[in-house]
Amino acid sequence: MSELFDVHGPFTTGHADIDAEHDQLHFQAKRLAMMLARGEDMVATTAVLANFITLLETHFKHEEMYFGVLEPHRAEAHRNEHKMLVLSLKLFAKSVKERDDLENWTDFVSLDDLLLKHAILFDLELRP
Ligand SMILES: [Fe+2]
Ligand SMILES: [Fe+2]
Repeated sequence: MSELFDVHGPFTTGHADIDAEHDQLHFQAKRLAMMLARGEDMVATTAVLANFITLLETHFKHEEMYFGVLEPHRAEAHRNEHKMLVLSLKLFAKSVKERDDLENWTDFVSLDDLLLKHAILFDLELRP
């Protein structure tokens, strides 16, 4: 596990299952950014991207099971943020599919940054 998400890491939520999923998502995001930056095979890249989006949606559903500890307005804001992130990634995946060149890897890096910012601004509130 990356030191970002282990027990003493800055992104630790204190829920081992959620932290393990964050670690996996972070690893997959780095892998995808590399594939996009290198302009690797479009079919393989779009398949990895589709898998990443599924992984993210599954993670969000799982994480929302812990929302009982949040104030209702924070739970709603967090849920909306999840929706926005999935939508942004789906739009990104569509743009990757529609373009022959893969000059858009920097857009993905920005999305990966958004995921880390999300963890800081929202997910850390789930700490027991
Ligand atoms: Fe979240
Ligand atoms: Fe999360």
